[in-house]
Amino acid sequence: MSEIREQVNRTLEASRPALYAALSPLGRRMFYPADIPVQAQEARQTTYNGTIGIFTDGQGGAVPLPSMDAVLKVSGDDRNRAFLYSPVPGIAELRTRWQDWQRDGMTDPPATCLPFATAGLAHALSIIADLFGGEGRAIAIPTPFWGNYRQNFELRTGAVVHSAPAYQDGRYDPGTFAAALADLPPGEPAVAMLNFPSNPGGYSPTREERAALKRSLLEIADQRPLVTIHDDAYNELVYEDGVPKRSFFWDMVGAHEQLIPIKVDGATKEFSFFGGRVGFLTVGLDLDAKATEALESKLKSISRATIGSPVATSQVILLQALRSGRARQEVEHIRTIAAERYRAIRPALEALDPTLLRLLPFNSGFFVLLEMPEELGLDPHAVRRHLIDHYSTGIVSISPRYLRLATCSVAAEALPELVARVERGVRELAGR
Ligand SMILES: Cc1ncc(COP(=O)(O)O)c(C=O)c1O
Repeated sequence: MSEIREQVNRTLEASRPALYAALSPLGRRMFYPADIPVQAQEARQTTYNGTIGIFTDGQGGAVPLPSMDAVLKVSGDDRNRAFLYSPVPGIAELRTRWQDWQRDGMTDPPATCLPFATAGLAHALSIIADLFGGEGRAIAIPTPFWGNYRQNFELRTGAVVHSAPAYQDGRYDPGTFAAALADLPPGEPAVAMLNFPSNPGGYSPTREERAALKRSLLEIADQRPLVTIHDDAYNELVYEDGVPKRSFFWDMVGAHEQLIPIKVDGATKEFSFFGGRVGFLTVGLDLDAKATEALESKLKSISRATIGSPVATSQVILLQALRSGRARQEVEHIRTIAAERYRAIRPALEALDPTLLRLLPFNSGFFVLLEMPEELGLDPHAVRRHLIDHYSTGIVSISPRYLRLATCSVAAEALPELVARVERGVRELAGR
């Protein structure tokens, strides 16, 4: 066993020293042994295949319960794919079709690894945390951020969150990662979490901010192996003209020897398929076949040891959408509704009394972030409870003084009233 691990590690080290240097102790340990899935794959064409623990019709076909079969209207190979186990890295056709989707509209996209299917984006992030997190590993996450990043990296793997404000004087700060990692000794690997459009912020950087951010990240990569995670959950949900929509991941691919960009995306928000749990992890490196196999050995072993294999049924459903030729149009329809909500809430936000609530940069995504001035001395969690109890209004409170409003789950016509109620509640508690 350890021979395979040794080979996998040596291959990665020779091919991408920065990637190897950035691996956690767990990441170094993991490899995909010649266990049941490998043996079953090798025996795939045999006449008497008694390898894997799936119940079949004796010819390799699925035997679903008729009541379930009736719900999922697929037949032939897709029926088998939906009801039998998925390959651990995902259904092959889905992986290539998702790659095409990611590159749609790009003229000369750089080479990357094939997307690796996961059980939603949170699972993709957990695989990355296992590979590159671990005790003491620095992960730079600008504040305020989605709390699950801390759960995933810090609580679960022992990595240390290094933070700096994402916004300074009401504007996005492209130097936020440099500030967060300023005290890290040179040479020590680090991870940077990039999330545009952001949660909870609802912001995507402008062209100029992206250029400055890229410069700053390349300077960090001059000093250390740097894994940049591009959490593209809200991919292309950008509502202002002139603000780039395409993922910042593509700016980073191939930009520096010491850089390991990883794109995290999927059907959850992009295809409005929240319950489907189909995510993808795409490593932005141009690896040869041997190094690809070595990297996949690690990804597969972590995924198999935690979830077994990704949900096959949901992958088949997503596959139907990608094959249909209507996916772009259908996704655009959702984006149009999201944009209408953006336009409906924007005037109400701009009219807010800034002594009570300040709007943080907002041009994209599913959320609006409001900051209560420090001098009000209000606890955001108390404000949240007050809004539920007295205004029948639900929002999310984030320490030390933020309120997050989800525009995605409220109808456009109700959004101004939501903002008005939040303002009234804050005014009341502030005694104004
Ligand atoms: C920024 C961000 N990343 C990842 C996720 C998780 O996505 P999934 O539900 O596919 O695990 C979310 C969900 O809210 C999110 O906001």
